Amino acid sequence: MLIKKRSGIKIPSSEITPKQWYLSRRHFMTGAAITTTAGLLAACRSGQPVNTSGTAADSQAAEAAATAGVVPTAGLMVDELGDPVNAYKDITTYNNYYEFNTTKDGPAKLAQDFPTSPWEVKVGGLVKTPKTYGLEELLKFDQEERIYRLRCVEAWSMVIPWNGFPLAKILNEVEPTAEANYVRFETILDKENMPGQRSPFFPWPYVEGLTIEEAMNDLTILATGLYGEPLLPQNGAPIRLVVPWKYGFKSIKAIVKIDLVAEMPTSLWMASAPNEYGFFANVNPEVDHPRWSQATERRIGELGRRATLLFNGYADQVSHLYPDVAYDTNTTAR
Ligand code: MTE
Repeated sequence: MLIKKRSGIKIPSSEITPKQWYLSRRHFMTGAAITTTAGLLAACRSGQPVNTSGTAADSQAAEAAATAGVVPTAGLMVDELGDPVNAYKDITTYNNYYEFNTTKDGPAKLAQDFPTSPWEVKVGGLVKTPKTYGLEELLKFDQEERIYRLRCVEAWSMVIPWNGFPLAKILNEVEPTAEANYVRFETILDKENMPGQRSPFFPWPYVEGLTIEEAMNDLTILATGLYGEPLLPQNGAPIRLVVPWKYGFKSIKAIVKIDLVAEMPTSLWMASAPNEYGFFANVNPEVDHPRWSQATERRIGELGRRATLLFNGYADQVSHLYPDVAYDTNTTAR
């Protein structure tokens, strides 16, 4: 069952758009010519130029939409701030997925045949009732729609209509013990099908972590789809984390293991570049990355830059989790 729920957001149902409309969103974005931006460094130290999607395919899609009688001039899906969701094409062809490669357009091509079924997620550690979930079981949780901003630490962003369910649902089932302070997530290790994992540059598998309070927050979801379609491999199929108030690298893809633990887990990025990437990684425009400003961001599909919002605009829902200090990308302090 698909449930529409938007994190305290009030959106009239008239704004929920038929899929063919949003797939052709670029049709009415003629002013938003797509630029190629070189020079942004990727989250790792290798530094790759990035490319946005091209305009030729977009105009073909627009033509197809026009032929089909689609007039996408109103009724866009928007987030609670009124910003339209990104095109399906952007979300599925502009990715960060280092298990495939470190370019933006590589994962969509290289992950095409990545096997996502059968799939199991083993949930254990400091819990009373450990459980291994098959994908079919995970899909039995009510799948909600959550329109969230994704703000990458590299200073680009998108608005994505995810489908999934709160992580808290699983955590409540396995019953964390009193000693469980953190949740540790692990991506599949599959060197055969993930060419990037053959590189010794990173300590594979990809690992991420949250405090238990962060993990239980209603905004934190496990996503199984987007735009009402199952996730594609490049977006983290079959199941990934989405934590919208933190930099995108916290939203770990292709999860196979979730452990409740007592100590703060060391993430892949903390191990790889501890001077640049910390545990909390909350979006904060006032704390620059050591190599670039975090004050503004480039929304994919838009010209120019927009101001970055504290906690990526979700301060009302999450600032109570951080009563003491402003958290930046570097600190591991609570
Ligand atoms: N998860 C894994 N396993 N491997 C990755 O390289 N990249 C992260 C995050 N999750 C990454 C990952 C980064 S840096 C970002 S910004 C988001 O995924 C991008 O998600 P998207 O490609 O679906 O937009």
